[in-house]
Amino acid sequence: GRTAAVIPAAGRGVRLGPGAPKALRALGGTPMLVHAVRAMAQSRAVTLVVVVAPPDDTAVAEVQQLLADSDAIAEVLVVPGGETRQESVRAGLDALPADVDVVLVHDAARPLVPVDTVDAVAAAVRAGAPAVVPAMPVTDTVKEVGPGGEPGAPEPVLGTVDRSRLRAVQTPQGFDRDALVAAHEKTALEGDGATDDAGMVERQGHQVVLVPGHEEAFKVTRPLDLVLAEAVLARRRA
Ligand code: CTP
Ligand code: MG
Repeated sequence: GRTAAVIPAAGRGVRLGPGAPKALRALGGTPMLVHAVRAMAQSRAVTLVVVVAPPDDTAVAEVQQLLADSDAIAEVLVVPGGETRQESVRAGLDALPADVDVVLVHDAARPLVPVDTVDAVAAAVRAGAPAVVPAMPVTDTVKEVGPGGEPGAPEPVLGTVDRSRLRAVQTPQGFDRDALVAAHEKTALEGDGATDDAGMVERQGHQVVLVPGHEEAFKVTRPLDLVLAEAVLARRRA
């Protein structure tokens, strides 16, 4: 079977502040989504990219046009997303052709992931792992806090988590297609959200494994992240 990438790009980017949907915001003059599609299509494993666009007709057409005009690469499908990331990923999974057996799910908001990271995730799934996640050590000390009082008031600390046992996860997350689809169906039925795809697969009892992530695979979430992303891109082009 083939390996496909699903790129959820339907979010508004509220934390980035006012402007176009986050995936369409420019990075080095090119929409973030185009960087993300290229990053996935550069991997020789990936032969199909499904982009999940904001759920209005104009956005779907706009994204189709954008990707047709860019020098991108593998076969690309564009489908409309949903209200939540989970719904958007599900819409992408529903669009996969029958011959796809490995799926990489990659946030449009991680436009600068190196191709080596994509390859490593795809290879680990091909080698038999049902779910593979790139992850980084946590560098900040992490505190657990108790129920707070007034918003903005000092928060009581319950304890300090052992940082050496924590990892911060990135994307692309790679899956056996059937395991991921089953986990999404179960999660949608139970109605409780999960913040990442691997979390859903974990709850179905599958062993999720981590491979090394990369600092350039960081997620563009807040305005300062855009500053960093521009700097990383400028360094690459130098
Ligand atoms: N996403 C999506 N559909 C949604 C929400 C999010 O496809 N309904 C996608 C985003 O486009 C992004 C990825 O999921 O590529 C990770 O989400 P996040 O970084 O939270 O992006 P946004 O939801 O757009 O940002 P914010 O939460 O600040 O609004
Ligand atoms: Mg979000």
